[in-house]
Amino acid sequence: MAEKESHIETSMEETKKYSPPEEFKKKANMNDPGIYKYAEENYEEFWAGHAENLEWYKKWDKVLDWENPPFAKWFVNGKINASYNCIDRHIKDGKGDKVALIWEGEPIDESTKYTFNELKEEVCKFANGLKELGVGKGDVVTFYLPMVPELAIGLLACARIGAPHSVVFGGFSPTALADRVHDSESKVLVTADGYYRRGKKLNMWENALESLESTPTVEKVVIVDRMGRKDLELDDSRDVYYHKLVAEQSTECEPEQMDAEDMLFLMYTSGTTGKPKGVLHTTGGYLTGTMTTFKWVFDIKDEDIYWCTADIGWITGHSYLVYGPLANGTTTIMFEGSPDYPDKDRFWKIVEKYKVTVLYTAPTAIRLFMKWGREYPDRCDLSTLRLLGSVGEPINPKAWEWYHKVIGDSRCPIVDTWWQTETGMILITPLPGITDLKPGSATRPFPGIQADIFDAGGSPLEPNQGGYLVLKRPWPSMLRTLYKNPERFKKTYWSEYGINIYFAGDGARKDEDGYFWVVGRIDDVLNVAGHRLSTMEMESALVDHPAVAEAAVVGRPDDLKGHVPVAYVILEGGRTGSDELAKELIGHVGKIIGPIGRPAGVYFSEDLPKTRSGKIMRRILKRLEAGEEPGDTSTLRNPEIVEELKNRVQ
Ligand code: PRX
Repeated sequence: MAEKESHIETSMEETKKYSPPEEFKKKANMNDPGIYKYAEENYEEFWAGHAENLEWYKKWDKVLDWENPPFAKWFVNGKINASYNCIDRHIKDGKGDKVALIWEGEPIDESTKYTFNELKEEVCKFANGLKELGVGKGDVVTFYLPMVPELAIGLLACARIGAPHSVVFGGFSPTALADRVHDSESKVLVTADGYYRRGKKLNMWENALESLESTPTVEKVVIVDRMGRKDLELDDSRDVYYHKLVAEQSTECEPEQMDAEDMLFLMYTSGTTGKPKGVLHTTGGYLTGTMTTFKWVFDIKDEDIYWCTADIGWITGHSYLVYGPLANGTTTIMFEGSPDYPDKDRFWKIVEKYKVTVLYTAPTAIRLFMKWGREYPDRCDLSTLRLLGSVGEPINPKAWEWYHKVIGDSRCPIVDTWWQTETGMILITPLPGITDLKPGSATRPFPGIQADIFDAGGSPLEPNQGGYLVLKRPWPSMLRTLYKNPERFKKTYWSEYGINIYFAGDGARKDEDGYFWVVGRIDDVLNVAGHRLSTMEMESALVDHPAVAEAAVVGRPDDLKGHVPVAYVILEGGRTGSDELAKELIGHVGKIIGPIGRPAGVYFSEDLPKTRSGKIMRRILKRLEAGEEPGDTSTLRNPEIVEELKNRVQ
């Protein structure tokens, strides 16, 4: 990881406290603050109690096996199927005709609803189709799709037959897709002919085809016909249209009895080195964790209409658009489009159209809505909303207040939820009806979760001292390892402070009330509009360009996106920087990583601040970008370069 600073700056600015109204407290289903004490003291029993809400083929012998840390096992020897628990269990409970999934297309007149009965049929047909293609238990299937219903259906179809899924966000490039397919050794890729983005029709098939050139493991490709394109040249031995594959399949498919510890999915996430990490989640613990947190954090009732605006290409979409809601039998909405198409009121039109009661979105979106102004939400009836959620990055108090007042009509509590791809489920969060809210703080650890702030040496810090966020006890939906890389798993998360302590990679402080204030990543990971990007990945993309000798990428604070990447580049001898070259480099990174990885700016420089051993001090560049003083430059080989860069940045 990046060089650790002994001290982390955290802002102490706090606004007023929000106490849940008594009325709300009474209605909340978990209105017993004693739950924290109970979960703390009866940790395993607490989680076992929740796991009991799922249907198991065989109960576990042991709740938690933590004898060989950091390799945890939850619900040891339990047998379960996630797809069954998200669908069939509710049908058995008489909810077959309840709407499970609402899909809203980007074109305003396109939408579909699936009841639990209908969802089961679709899932079984796709599951049988995958089997026909030779997919069996343990075979990883990669999805590279826009937000079409087939993606949610595909996850559940895979879970049904015990094939782990690996979803690659549709905005990633062919190279990024190929890397992920390659690492997971997928035999099947599910993709689409194209997708809509702000009214434009964009190609997807071409990207998939390009990646297939370097992914020899892929034997079969399933194509969702989203755009009705007629120009695809298919390889008949490899490619099949989704609708043709499922047309004749049976609507019944017996779920596989999976071990609680069998892999449910892989989710690749950016790490501190160039190579993305395959975060591995298993079945029983993941489902228990996401089901329980979803129910409690969003205080879910049977009649709720819940909308999570995240893409299923990220963990939020997995845990809180698909698995968490469906495990609870909740109606969940999936939206294909953008918040500003056809107009900037699209989100609010959706809330009005479906009478959404709980909305879960990201601070970056909230800041955008704030910029657009309240005219857009004010056009729509948002009176059905009763609870608002936030995830992905710290929410600044100003955006919190706006979300609370304008969207929530000062009525709806806000749950600011801290978690990660690796944690699988929400870990630091208010419980509506119990927790007093402080805008900007994710508040307290979920019952049973032990979080703390350590200094660089591993000692717990006093209130309000900035340090490193750690988790001191395993939790059911924790990642089990990094795919095919247990050593990297140990080194990344469990070696900073010992093999029992999870190192989250975030800087934070805890205040005098025990509330957590997360500042952001302290490693070489950038959080851009709630998306995690590795600066190392961008740097290797830059040096891949023939004009570039060396590069350093750091985050620049941005009002809307939280941070944006900027690149400092040293060119190969004799080359000079120009606007054209800057554009070319930005395009080059975009091509290798995908549009989300494009740097917002490029600086050309003769040199970069380096230690005597030649390591680039990114920390200094980061400070310059934040408009701060560079700090101690005495260990640099070339301190003079800092002044020069400072003049240029400001
Ligand atoms: O830095 C934290 C930030 O997002 C990181 C995790 O990113 P990812 O794995 O992509 O998952 C995002 C969705 C769960 C964390 O290490 N983060 C996430 N939620 C919050 C947050 N930072 C502050 N407050 C949050 N509520």
